[in-house]
Amino acid sequence: MIVPKPVKHEPRPGTFVLDRETSLAADPALSAVAAWLRGELAPVTGGELPPAGSGGIRLTLGDLPPEAYRLTVGRTVEIVAGGPAGAFYGAQTFRQLLPPAAFRRAGGGPFEVPGAYVEDAPRFGWRGCLLDVARHFMTKADVLRFIDLIALHKLNVLHLHLTDDQGWRIEIRRHPRLTEVGAWRKESQTGWNGAMDGRPHGGYYTQEDIKEIVAYAAARHVMVVPEIDLPGHTQAAIAAYPELGNLDTPLEVRTTWGIGQNVLNVEDGTVKFFQDVLDEVLELFPSPYIVLGGDECRKDQWRASPAAQRRIAELGLRDEEELQSWFMRQFDVYLAARERRLVGWDEILEGGLAPGAVVASWRGELGAVAAARAGHDVVNCSNTSVYFDYRQGPGEDEPVPFGTVLTLEDVYAFEPVPAELRGEPAAERVLGAQCGVWTELIDSSRRVDYMAFPRLAAFAETVWCPPERDLPDFHARLAGHLPRLDAIGVEYRRADGPLPWQTRPGVPGRPEDPERWQAQLDAWTSNLRSP
Ligand code: ACM
Repeated sequence: MIVPKPVKHEPRPGTFVLDRETSLAADPALSAVAAWLRGELAPVTGGELPPAGSGGIRLTLGDLPPEAYRLTVGRTVEIVAGGPAGAFYGAQTFRQLLPPAAFRRAGGGPFEVPGAYVEDAPRFGWRGCLLDVARHFMTKADVLRFIDLIALHKLNVLHLHLTDDQGWRIEIRRHPRLTEVGAWRKESQTGWNGAMDGRPHGGYYTQEDIKEIVAYAAARHVMVVPEIDLPGHTQAAIAAYPELGNLDTPLEVRTTWGIGQNVLNVEDGTVKFFQDVLDEVLELFPSPYIVLGGDECRKDQWRASPAAQRRIAELGLRDEEELQSWFMRQFDVYLAARERRLVGWDEILEGGLAPGAVVASWRGELGAVAAARAGHDVVNCSNTSVYFDYRQGPGEDEPVPFGTVLTLEDVYAFEPVPAELRGEPAAERVLGAQCGVWTELIDSSRRVDYMAFPRLAAFAETVWCPPERDLPDFHARLAGHLPRLDAIGVEYRRADGPLPWQTRPGVPGRPEDPERWQAQLDAWTSNLRSP
C-alpha cells in the first residue's frame, strides 16, 4: 500500500509494536532525520520515543547511494540508508506501514506493524512540484503544509513561482515597492468569461518567512528553487517601478489571466535592478538552481520601442527573439559567476540558449528533446501530462475548469524521458520531471488540495519508480493511501468527481476543444528553433 511504490517490498514474519515506550536511535549523521521522525510519531504515540532501549527504531548509515534505503520491520525497525535523504525516505515508508491513524496529529496509538522488508531508491534526482504563489498567494502555513505533503510522496524539489503579472511575493529590501505595490491587486478574474470578483487580493513572504520555508523544506529533503520570472510576466514589478517597463503610462498589478503584453525594457538599469534582486534571492535560497522564467514573453513592446530597437542594432542581433536571449544571458553570466545555474522555460531555446542553462520543458516535450540533444539538462514539465490546473475529468462540474482533461490515469501513464530520446545518450540529460500547480483559478489551499491530489501521488510514481506501470496495482495501493490523506485532512478529488461543496457553479470553463488545444500546441512548438 506504499505510494510511491518501493522497488522491492516483501512481507516478513513478526510484528512491530509502536507505543510510548518505543526507542528511536540514529547514527549522528542521521540525527536530524531522527528528530523529524520523533516529531511525527510522538504526538500519536503520546510518548517521546526515548533515544535508547530495546525494541526500537534504529537509523544507520550503510553502503548505498545517498537517496537509497533498506527497511526491515520485525521485532525492531532497522533503516539502513546511504545518507540522510535515504534515511528520510525509509522513515516515510515506515510511516506508511503504520495505520492511517498514525497520520493524525494526536491520539490513536499504540500501533502494530506487520513484518516487512523494503529495498528502495528513486529513479530520478529531480522529483519536483511547482507551486504558483504569484497568481494566488498561499500563506506561509499553507506552503509548509504543502511541503509536508510533497515530502510524504518523496518529491524533493519545490519550485516556488514567486513573481508574475498578478503579484510579487518576496520581500526585496533594496526595492521595497515590489511588495508594497506589487504584492496587491484590486480584484481577480474568476474564470474565462471575463467576470471579475471585485475583491482585493495579495500577500507576500518576508525574508524571515522565506528562510523558514527553506529550512523547513531542507529538513524534509526538499530543495526550494525560486522563480523570478523575466522578462515577461513582470507587470507587478513594472506597476511598482514604472521605469522597468516600456510605456509612459502607469500600470496596475494585473487583474486578468492569459499572456500579458507588458514586459521589461532592456535598459542597463533594468538588468542592474534584477541583478540587485537576485543578490537578495541568492542569499535566501541555497539551491544551485535559480529559475528566471523566460516563458510567454510577447515582443510587441520591444518592436515598438526605439530603445529596444537601438539595443538590437548596437548588439548586432537579428531580432527580438535574440534580444530576449541576450537579456537572459546577462543573468546567466551573473548566476554562473556565483556558482548557480539558470533554469528557464523552453522558450529560452528560441533565440539561442545560454550555455549551462537547464531547460524546464513545458509546451509538450519538444523542448525537452531539443535541449537534451543540444547537451542541456532538462526537467520534463509537460503541460499535456503534469499540469494540475487542468481539469481532472470531463464534466462541467470540475471547479477549476481548464479545458484540457488530465485524469489521474493520464498522469500515471506519464513517462519523464520523452519517447524520441529513448536509447540516445541525450536521455541522460533528463534530470527528472516536475508537476505544476498553476493557480490562476485556484484561489485557496483547499483548491490546491483538490487539484493536486491524488494526481500528485500518480506523478510521484512516475519519478520515483522504475518505468514499468501497473495501473490496477496503483489503484489498489491508492485505495490504501487515500485514508492517509483523509487523516492528514487533504481535500482531494474523489474518483467519482467533486463533492457538491467542491464544485464552483457559475464559473464557466474553457470549452472542451481538443482541436484548438492541438493548434495552440503546434503553433508554440513550431516557434522552437533548433538549437
Ligand atoms: C508556463 O506554464 N508558462 C511555464
